[in-house]
This record gives sequence, C-alpha cells and structure tokens, in this order.
Amino acid sequence: MRQILVAGNWKLNGSRDSIEQLLSGIVAGAGAAANVQIAVCPPFVYIPQVAERLAGSPVAWGSQDISDQDSGAFTGEVSASMLNDFNCKYAIVGHSERRSLYAEDDAFTARKFAAARKGGLIPILCVGETLEEREQGVTESVVARQLDAVIELEGVAALNDAVIAYEPVWAIGTGKTATPQQAQDVHAFIRGKLAELNVGVADKVQILYGGSVKGANAAELFAMADIDGGLIGGASLDANEFLKICSAGA
Ligand code: 13P
Repeated sequence: MRQILVAGNWKLNGSRDSIEQLLSGIVAGAGAAANVQIAVCPPFVYIPQVAERLAGSPVAWGSQDISDQDSGAFTGEVSASMLNDFNCKYAIVGHSERRSLYAEDDAFTARKFAAARKGGLIPILCVGETLEEREQGVTESVVARQLDAVIELEGVAALNDAVIAYEPVWAIGTGKTATPQQAQDVHAFIRGKLAELNVGVADKVQILYGGSVKGANAAELFAMADIDGGLIGGASLDANEFLKICSAGA
C-alpha cells in the first residue's frame, strides 16, 4: 500500500518572516494528517531555517533543484552533499519551469536525478506535457521520453528510491486542474510503462499529481487508484490551504 505524499514547492517565494509563520501553521496542523507524508521545498537559501524549524517534526524538507556535480568550479550550483548537511530528504528534479525557462533537457535532468540518488536524497522527478503537446495527442510519448532518459542512465530499479510527479504544464499556476480522470490516465500509463520493466518498482513508486491542486480538489484527485499525493505550488504558501490538501489524503 503506497502512502500519500503531499509536497509543497514554494518556488521563488518567501522571506524569513513569512516562512516562520508558514512553518508554524503547518507544524501546528500536521498531526491531523498523521498517515500522510508531508514535505516542503523552500528556496535554497532558506533551507537552514526550515531544517532548524522542522527538526523533530513530522514534516520533511527538500530542495527545488540540485546540481549534477559534486563540487568544484560550478558557480551558483548546490550539491547533494550540501543538501545533506541540512538533512534534506527530497530534491525536485526536472520541474517544467527548469525545463522550459532554463533549458534543462531530459539528459541533464537525468544526471541531476543520478546526483540526488548518489547523495542519498530522494529525487522527485517531474514529467508532463505542454498544452500544445496534449492537443497534438503526444502526451504519452512526451512523458515516456522524459522517463526513459532517467531509466537509460540509472536503470528502472533506481525508481525504487524516487518519487515521480506528473505535472501537466498547462495546469501549473493556471487554475486549470486536470480532471481526476485525465490525471489518472497518465498516472496509469506511467505505472504501466514501469510495470513492463519491473512490477515491483511500478507497485512501489509514488506518483504525485501537480498543477493547481487546492483544498477543494485534492480529495477527488487522491482518491484515484494511481495518484499517490500531490506536488503543490501556490496553495502550499498558505498553511491552512496546504493542511486541507494534506488532510484530503488522510
Ligand atoms: P501550482 O500548484 O501553483 O499550479 O504549481 C504546481 C507546481 O508546479 C508544483 O511543482
């Protein structure tokens, strides 16, 4: 039985003060969703603050990105070992904003995935199609290509220690959520594709849905057979809304 995971991706938002408030609210209410795994992914610079505040709480934390390199002359990068210094559990890799705004391709994303695993972090691998790709009917081939890059580099068993997040680009920050059935169809495709290679991995891997998840729509999404939680953007910046989403998985 896969547990529900609800992870907040704060993106480029927050300040020392707003984060203190947000975390207080989340920690105070997290107990109500005790059987749900909860995590937050702040901007890098706030990870020490988050680590200190959340230590000993049921809420885990992670990064929004990770370097494919360990150390050296790579200006601006943050490595797995640095994230480990602050007890990060997760690292998001291949978010569509990294792919589209910063030109990170499948192969680069796969190397970041590998770096996270090598460092003992759980990569949250984001996949998903644009509106244009959906309208062209190529959703499955796009998602398959994004997964294949990781499987070719790391092998399918690597997904035993990873999370997949299906985030249709057209649903991110637009208020346009995929219907539970639209999301379920792609989740089932992903699990089916993995099952062709390794049934154990397919059964075990958590596949999150991301894209305009809110308190009001989380329960119907999480009720679908292959949806194991959510990767939450905007709604994760409000403690009450985020907790409503967590409770929807309880
Ligand atoms: P929104 O929840 O704001 O649509 O963002 C989803 C997302 O990109 C999470 O990674």
